[in-house]
Amino acid sequence: MRMYDLIEKKKLGQELSTEEIYHIINGYTHDEIPDYQISALLMAIYFNGMNVRERYDLTMAMRDSGDILDLSSIDGVKIDKHSTGGVGDKVTLVLGPIIASIGVPVAKMSGRGLGHTGGTIDKLEAFPGFNVSLSEEQFINQVNDIKIAVTGQSKNLAPADKKLYALRDVTATVDEISLITGSIMSKKLAAGTDAIVLDVTVGDGAFMKNKESALELAKSMVDIGKKADKKIAAILTNMDEPLGFAVGNDLEVIEAINALNGNGPEDLMEVVYELGSQMIVFSEIEKDKAKAKELMKEAVSSGRALAKFVEFIEAQGGDSSYAKDINKFKPAKYIIPVNSLTDGYVHAIKAESIGLASMSLGGGRETFEDVIDMSVGIVLNKKVGDTVKAGEALCYIHTNDEKKAKVAEEMIRKATVVSPEACDHMDLIIDIVE
Ligand code: URA
Repeated sequence: MRMYDLIEKKKLGQELSTEEIYHIINGYTHDEIPDYQISALLMAIYFNGMNVRERYDLTMAMRDSGDILDLSSIDGVKIDKHSTGGVGDKVTLVLGPIIASIGVPVAKMSGRGLGHTGGTIDKLEAFPGFNVSLSEEQFINQVNDIKIAVTGQSKNLAPADKKLYALRDVTATVDEISLITGSIMSKKLAAGTDAIVLDVTVGDGAFMKNKESALELAKSMVDIGKKADKKIAAILTNMDEPLGFAVGNDLEVIEAINALNGNGPEDLMEVVYELGSQMIVFSEIEKDKAKAKELMKEAVSSGRALAKFVEFIEAQGGDSSYAKDINKFKPAKYIIPVNSLTDGYVHAIKAESIGLASMSLGGGRETFEDVIDMSVGIVLNKKVGDTVKAGEALCYIHTNDEKKAKVAEEMIRKATVVSPEACDHMDLIIDIVE
């Protein structure tokens, strides 16, 4: 099989066979096919796409390029949740303990933040001592013991994706549905759970900027998951403005703890209850989504969800006293308000710019080598649809460097729109694909 012929085939918009796709992925993973030929192929896929059969083969070939976790020794229906990325997205920290406290086994591999989006693994490191790299045995035992474990992605999980993603990143081929499907679903399938609930974010701070493309991606991933015999659903959620009020690592952890204490922002809780009820239905603990939401609310109001969170932090070696007393988190040196210049209604708080502003304060990373300042970020005081008076705070910048705050303030001002006409709050749940 000549790589030249396979590139030519895709360039002409023809279908690649299963054997050809495996040949490409195996060859690239083992350094037998050079970057320049894969780059050309990626661009041909970018323009001509892949049909469902090709996407499935691509996903399976990438899944098979490394280890596949065997979670069969965990009792019950194992469930994973994945977000395509957002700003202020602390859903896993709230959702995981709630549904684990109801008895749903949560076996989750998470990533670190990059660019304007945050990552769960970074946030969990807010708890001193928290171990984010469990062995497979520790991971399985912990889910069996307490129903929840969250670990960083193991090194040999879908190695083909690591190489391909790095190449897509420098060849302007990241934003193509078949390639995104293969990338996300290969890792989800290698992670070995029985069911997957996808949070496909839509809007300014998301990968997918509009509903049409998000729906296309959601359907593509659900198709592949079903073909691979998984229970799977995708929920499209709004990411035009940040989720909740807090953006930045410690700040988001504090908001998550408050949420587990029953004081969560409405939008965050709506997403948590929607995703969680789908996970509970998949687990077969409850068939009806509305009843599943009631179970979740009861887990929060009874304190069981917070107790599960504390148990989870302790099980992974973290200092849980921070979860019991949020005043233990060391605040940033300066808290600086960004005040509205006029009276009116908030029409936009563009999520991507807020994420980038938080990154400019040191709260995010441009490359995986960058070190994060856990204490910095932005806490919104207003959400889209709220009224605001001139001189009233739109948000607060938490910073250790006043110069950086000036840059962040400029970014926030550009990202925020206040105008006299009334404006609705944003709808959070945009669509559901099952
Ligand atoms: N997240 C991934 O893991 N892969 C993509 O291609 C896009 C988002």
